[in-house]
Amino acid sequence: MKVLGISAFYHDSAAVIIEDGRVVLAAQEERFSGIKNDAAFPSSAIQFCLKESKTELSELKAIVFYDKPFLKFERILETYLSQAPKGLVSFLKSMPIWIKDKLYIKRTIRQGLLPMMEGNGRLPKIYFPEHHLSHAASAYYPSGFDEALILTVDGVGEYTTTSLAVGKGNSITQLRTMAFPDSLGLLYAAFTYYLGFRINSGEYKVMGLSSYGDSKSKGFKDYYWKIKESLIQIHDDGSFKLNRKYFGFLTGLRMTKDKHWENLFGIKRRIKGEAISSKHQNLAKAIQVVTEEIFLKIATEGKRLTDCTKICLAGGVALNCVANGVLVRSGLFESIYIQPAAGDAGGAIGAALAYYHLSRPEAERKKTFSSVYLGPNPGAGQKEKAHSFKENTFSDFDLLCEEVSSLLSQGKVIGWVQGRMEFGPRALGNRSILADPRKDWMQDRINLKVKNREEFRPFAPVVLEEDAHKYFDTGEVKASPFMLVTFPVIDQSIPAVTHVDGSARVQTVNQEQNEKLFMLLKVFKETTGCSVLLNTSLNGKDQPIACGAEEALTIFAESQLDYLVIKNTIFSKEWN
Ligand SMILES: [Fe+2]
Repeated sequence: MKVLGISAFYHDSAAVIIEDGRVVLAAQEERFSGIKNDAAFPSSAIQFCLKESKTELSELKAIVFYDKPFLKFERILETYLSQAPKGLVSFLKSMPIWIKDKLYIKRTIRQGLLPMMEGNGRLPKIYFPEHHLSHAASAYYPSGFDEALILTVDGVGEYTTTSLAVGKGNSITQLRTMAFPDSLGLLYAAFTYYLGFRINSGEYKVMGLSSYGDSKSKGFKDYYWKIKESLIQIHDDGSFKLNRKYFGFLTGLRMTKDKHWENLFGIKRRIKGEAISSKHQNLAKAIQVVTEEIFLKIATEGKRLTDCTKICLAGGVALNCVANGVLVRSGLFESIYIQPAAGDAGGAIGAALAYYHLSRPEAERKKTFSSVYLGPNPGAGQKEKAHSFKENTFSDFDLLCEEVSSLLSQGKVIGWVQGRMEFGPRALGNRSILADPRKDWMQDRINLKVKNREEFRPFAPVVLEEDAHKYFDTGEVKASPFMLVTFPVIDQSIPAVTHVDGSARVQTVNQEQNEKLFMLLKVFKETTGCSVLLNTSLNGKDQPIACGAEEALTIFAESQLDYLVIKNTIFSKEWN
């Protein structure tokens, strides 16, 4: 039984195919279109899923979209009516898009799929689970837990912004919800906007910047208390109310009411490209700490309600690795599972899994999702492009690892393309740039050569799972395969992956999870004594991560990467 899951039209469109409850293939549209966070109907991702799994549309049991468009429209209409006539301009601006594409999504999906139909078959029925059920399902079913608390936190779905649910066997039961406009995701997004970054993708930058804030400084303390006294009223159970006076998203296209923020915090909204000051750093720290507090309070309330020992997390806020680290170290739960594609792309997985499990309540639970490597294989790449570089192909993968390890230890920056592309926002060793973490100048070198990103953003380490505890204070945590939790660094030998506050966003690797990356790390350890590599995504500044060989070769040609490895071949720029 095959089911197609789709998320689209807001940000991070994606498609997924599940077969008998197991996630078989999944990909984000941005990787095919080259448009970062592409929100368009995911035609290419769907075509990839169908072709690769040899599936005809007519043989699908169901197509499942990740939220309920009519309910979402109702919320937008209600919000406008409650504020009218304020917000008329933005309301009128958004209406044509709604009426054309978003409201009649069933029609839009059918129109998008019909060109992919072969023969005389009929399109299967299209289902619309609620947005937060899709998020909850995306974390609970893959977790493998028989019973767990499920916490989903994002900007907004239809009405819901936060939900606490409990998973038991195949069922998911919602316990508590919070509704728009009281939203932790939108609160964080408002600060992202005020600090001069793009919402829905710049939240990582705020998180990175927050580590530079000084929690002992008067500046930080002022901001922290101003947020808690003026912007948001937080209750003991983690519920909260935003002060409408300060937020523009109810009535306009802006997140914040800048004049009020300026009066409150004493700094102007930062314009993109402006220098970052200690005030910006402290403001980022203040919202990060408040977010962690709320996150922990909600999880504590969930624990009180259910007494569960396990928790599953999803929704965009679950990508906040620093807050996840606080939850892990709180000891509230014995086990934590975070969906690696916690944002809306992962909603496609959850929607399909929710349909499968909730329509078969008595069926046995299976291992639904064991890896994020669900996208296309690298393919061959364009011959002319490949031939403009020097190629060295190894028949023995061990020998390739020895060569790559040697180049890494010489300080070379290397693109590494192996196997299926990752699903979700992180490159986890199949579409990565790798480097030696022991060199303190490596961060600058990578930024100069290819990434060109803000210097306050840290690079992450990938470490052999068995050695993780030697480098990081992982406590009871044995594995962190998806790079979703920060841990304190306890070994001073890896400065290039140690953030300014002494933390790192750790990815652990074992043989089963990613054999080729595991082999490379083993060889690097044998030759250098170090079990860690720097791992960052293979993409240019503000570009999506490379999809296949073609895109990887383009990045290699346009950047100053020293080497590119695709499968068993090392490409170098010593021209033929
Ligand atoms: Fe969401």
